[in-house]
Amino acid sequence: MLNNKLLKCGESVFREIISNFIDFDKKWCFFAINNVCNSRCETCSIWKEKPKIVGLEDAKKVLNKLYENNFKILQLTGGEPLINPDFFEIVKYAKKLNFFVFAPTNGTLINEKVANKLKESRIDQISVSLHHYKPKIFEKISGHKNILKKVTNAIKILEKKKLPVSVLCTISKSNINDIEDIVEFIDKFDVTVSFCMPVTIKDTSFHLGNNGESVIIGKDEMKNALLRIIKLKKQGYNIINSLEYLRDTIRYLDKENRYDCFGGTKLFYIDWNLNVYPCMCKGKPVNIDKYNFNNSNYKECNKCMIQCFREPSTLLSNQIEASKIFIKEFPFLLLMCMERVKTLLK
Ligand SMILES: C[S@@+](CC[C@H](N)C(=O)[O-])C[C@H]1O[C@@H](n2cnc3c(N)ncnc32)[C@H](O)[C@@H]1O
Ligand code: SF4
Ligand code: SF4
Repeated sequence: MLNNKLLKCGESVFREIISNFIDFDKKWCFFAINNVCNSRCETCSIWKEKPKIVGLEDAKKVLNKLYENNFKILQLTGGEPLINPDFFEIVKYAKKLNFFVFAPTNGTLINEKVANKLKESRIDQISVSLHHYKPKIFEKISGHKNILKKVTNAIKILEKKKLPVSVLCTISKSNINDIEDIVEFIDKFDVTVSFCMPVTIKDTSFHLGNNGESVIIGKDEMKNALLRIIKLKKQGYNIINSLEYLRDTIRYLDKENRYDCFGGTKLFYIDWNLNVYPCMCKGKPVNIDKYNFNNSNYKECNKCMIQCFREPSTLLSNQIEASKIFIKEFPFLLLMCMERVKTLLK
């Protein structure tokens, strides 16, 4: 079932994906503009890093280089990206360069004033992280007092301002048994939800997983969670992960063949030190000034299930597969996108 909520959130994202297919060489970048954060999530270790915030001039330098190298889609992440005092100026500059800009946030800093600034910046999509519907459990996961109230307020404010908002929920030991109730809770708001699979990252600066305690989940339990998400999606809940990505993740757990990953060819990660990595999970840091995006030493890789890189990879794997996913999962969206594409081509 495709309903208005899914259309509303998905339309802008998938419009960009479709237009991305027209020029299939366009690239995506995940740019972490600071590692500083006001939460202490048990699944995350970025906040333990030596504090670093990218300034506006450095951010512009990165964006110019991305623009010259045919990047089109930009995620501004962190740390908590809204802590960066230049966040709105960075978004505005990226919009001037015609990037599709989206940002995940823990939602704690969003109020009316911030929402107005987001609107003014012309950001394309905001994802607010919500990991549980029970206040105490969400506080334990995030290490942030009163987090549920702050996050639900943030969602309401963003919706009131008619900003494109969705929810991100990271699966961990603390919420894996409550997925159905979390989805039911989120369904009460006018938003979609996307699940992030729990990963441990030690090899790049994007340190996730902490000591692993909350994110190392057995294969059978993880597969069971994925099957439950697929079931909820088929029941018509507003889950935006594609069936292809969810099934691809099951194939990963079963060590079966999967879609190729575009980490290091079409998808890249840049951190707060302006170092480029082929993806968030592996690779040696190379400063943006020295990085050649057209000459990456990419080797085929199937090593992980990180949503940020694997989900776009399943969609971008090839135009035929992507069209099949669209037709199967987003039929009305496809029609809308085609209309937009026709207008663009006129
Ligand atoms: C690193 S945060 C940065 C943006 C912002 N601070 C936030 O929490 O939304 C981006 C997303 O990564 C998720 N995340 C945290 N730890 C993770 C882990 N171990 N595996 C996968 N995703 C994780 C967060 O829950 C969040 O949704
Ligand atoms: S997941 Fe996001 S909110 Fe949580 S500690 Fe990491 S950067 Fe902060
Ligand atoms: S599968 Fe994972 S580790 Fe391999 S390139 Fe993709 S994102 Fe990186």
